[in-house]
Amino acid sequence: MKRTLSYLFFFNLVFIIFCSCESEPVAEISLIPRPTKVIQKPGIFDVKDERTYYYSGIDRESLRYRMTGLGFVETDEKSKASVVFSFDTTMIDGQYELEVASSKIDVKAKGTQGFMHALSTIDQLRMRDGQTIPCVQINDVPKFSYRGMHLDVARHFFSVESVKQYIDLLAFYKFNYFHWHLTEDQGWRIEIKKYPKLQEIAAYRKETLIGHYTDQPQQFDGKEYGGFYTQDEIREVVKYATLRGITIVPEIEMPGHSLAALAAYPELACTDGPFEVGTKWGVFEDVYCPTEKTFEFLRSVIDEVVDLFPGPYIHIGGDECPKTRWRESSFCQKLISELNLDDEHGLQSYFIQRMETYINSKGKRIIGWDEILEGGLAKDATVMSWRGYDGGIEAASDQHEVIMTPTSHCYFDYYQSTDKDEPLAIGGFLPLDKVYNFDPIPEDLDSAFAKYIIGAQGNVWTEYMPDFDQVIYMAFPRALALSEILWTYPENRNYNEFLQRLETHIEFWAKNNVQMANHLYSLELDMSTNNQGQIMVKPEFTPPGCKLGLLDSSGVYVVKDEYALESGSRYSFQWRKNGQNKGKEYSITTSDNAAFGQSINLKYEPHSKYEGYGATTLINGIPTNPKAYSGKEWLGFDGKDMVATIDLGDVESLNYGSIEFFNSPDSWIYPPREILVEASADNEHYVPVFQQKIEKSENKYMLVELPLRTISTRYLRVRARNHGTIKSGQGEGNPAWLFVGEITL
Ligand code: ACM
Repeated sequence: MKRTLSYLFFFNLVFIIFCSCESEPVAEISLIPRPTKVIQKPGIFDVKDERTYYYSGIDRESLRYRMTGLGFVETDEKSKASVVFSFDTTMIDGQYELEVASSKIDVKAKGTQGFMHALSTIDQLRMRDGQTIPCVQINDVPKFSYRGMHLDVARHFFSVESVKQYIDLLAFYKFNYFHWHLTEDQGWRIEIKKYPKLQEIAAYRKETLIGHYTDQPQQFDGKEYGGFYTQDEIREVVKYATLRGITIVPEIEMPGHSLAALAAYPELACTDGPFEVGTKWGVFEDVYCPTEKTFEFLRSVIDEVVDLFPGPYIHIGGDECPKTRWRESSFCQKLISELNLDDEHGLQSYFIQRMETYINSKGKRIIGWDEILEGGLAKDATVMSWRGYDGGIEAASDQHEVIMTPTSHCYFDYYQSTDKDEPLAIGGFLPLDKVYNFDPIPEDLDSAFAKYIIGAQGNVWTEYMPDFDQVIYMAFPRALALSEILWTYPENRNYNEFLQRLETHIEFWAKNNVQMANHLYSLELDMSTNNQGQIMVKPEFTPPGCKLGLLDSSGVYVVKDEYALESGSRYSFQWRKNGQNKGKEYSITTSDNAAFGQSINLKYEPHSKYEGYGATTLINGIPTNPKAYSGKEWLGFDGKDMVATIDLGDVESLNYGSIEFFNSPDSWIYPPREILVEASADNEHYVPVFQQKIEKSENKYMLVELPLRTISTRYLRVRARNHGTIKSGQGEGNPAWLFVGEITL
């Protein structure tokens, strides 16, 4: 079904809830981001009646568009108008004041941006039936001036209709920038008239990787894929965004992530080629060579780009540019020496600074990913800090504008749930509450430079989002949490209260065929071992108003504060709110394991990002996810061995065991080099009972059997020796990760 967000569709939705706070009912409102100050009043304004609006400013196109959509006509008789827009020059950009009474709406703002946001608030206020707006007085001030969302249309390509829908959603949640990632190794998506081969060659790849990049062997679908936006389509999208108060930041990647352009124009590379548009993900070594030919090409591309995009910024990428070809190129080496540069990083800086000078000459400013700091930052560049906080701290301390997009909090291509049924994603784990706890101002930044952090942005890289439904699922509702972080001052934020508003929004969009992810009632368990050696579980987080219960084998629902698990048993948990089931039933089946619930300790702690439930994780009988290492059932050791000592309590007779590992060298995760199992009666004198070197494996999930010769022991020590330093490929020179799942005896 086509899901254009025409304002008309609001008109057939009903989900008003009344509460009797006053003598007259007051409609419950759910605004995201939460406004600075809201005073609800009894009564409603009904947009059904014939209505007029008054506006005295010059830039009237956006307002006219939005008000016409609401069925209003402009009047020049202020006293008779039912909606009056007036200017308040004491306000800041984006700020607005909205007063809805039963017969009149007053909107005040400094300019168009504030009026646009007020109209987004009105759109949210009438979500319930499309035409009635509860009476309310709102004063609203944004915390950050850059509130952005990004979309990669190169790894997968999305239609103009889809991009417009994305923009509608951004405007609805008061974002003001849309970062349109238009060029990549896997496809060039913007028509450049001077270079037709960008459309003929660079816009298409011969096939696409299927499954995960780290799957071995890699497989491809054998189908040509691609497309691009014509300049007319770009203009149409720019106009659409402008009418909704959204500024587009186009990104033209350089000098890396440029393989598609090199496939079309190999003369822009340092070697002869031929090159092929990327068919798989990752980073490619073939990048633009900093020749005059390349600069002429990029200048001409920029000429056409600046004519299409009226906003102040052009994003020039700058990230992940391997220096291999530049190191091998006699031209580059000569240039480094002629320009008296230190190395290839200096050359990258030279490249970016030349382009910055050109872009500045066109009246625009550049944004680049934080690698543009390497070798010296261009003078007026704005930095997008994505590899963490450090780039942002360095740039802000140098008095450069910064937009924070750290992978830890802003990469909406990461998994949002540990549910095994989640669609394939790139990896990582970024649940909604973590986004909501994001602080764009880095803790380690001197507060004198905090003003250089102009905002933050959610990034939506689409390697694993083949269609637009998947984009919606991944980007939302995490983008809603980000919108509140960027707009609402911390003293007005509360996660539990946000979740209640969010439910209204998710339901609203679901009724309109926009399926945001809904993990409001997913269950993450907290686990501990009590002093009787029982493994106890309870919810890590309780959704507002809910109780967690266990459905016993006869279907009876039992609610306790925490639940004891036993080995080899099945448990079905269910959230309920006011007697109603919420979310799906969550079942776990524990395996039979002689080590279950026994005392276990680790010589080396796992990394804090992958510490599961602590050492108990290794013997809690809960199955690991064989497809992803990000769940709580895997422990990740960064460069260290896993050495676990299990105390079975009594002397036990054992003859078999197994241990699970995750294997994904492209993610720097390697199986152990060797496993050693030792037994002891007294926890002092250990004798080896099993030893095995581990061979390389093609499989991500590895179950290593431990055929222990029949032994009687109380203590068992299991050592898995870390792979050590990575010799080649991804992560070369870095310590390998060791991921360990369940140890079963
Ligand atoms: C990036 O994620 N390579 C900016």
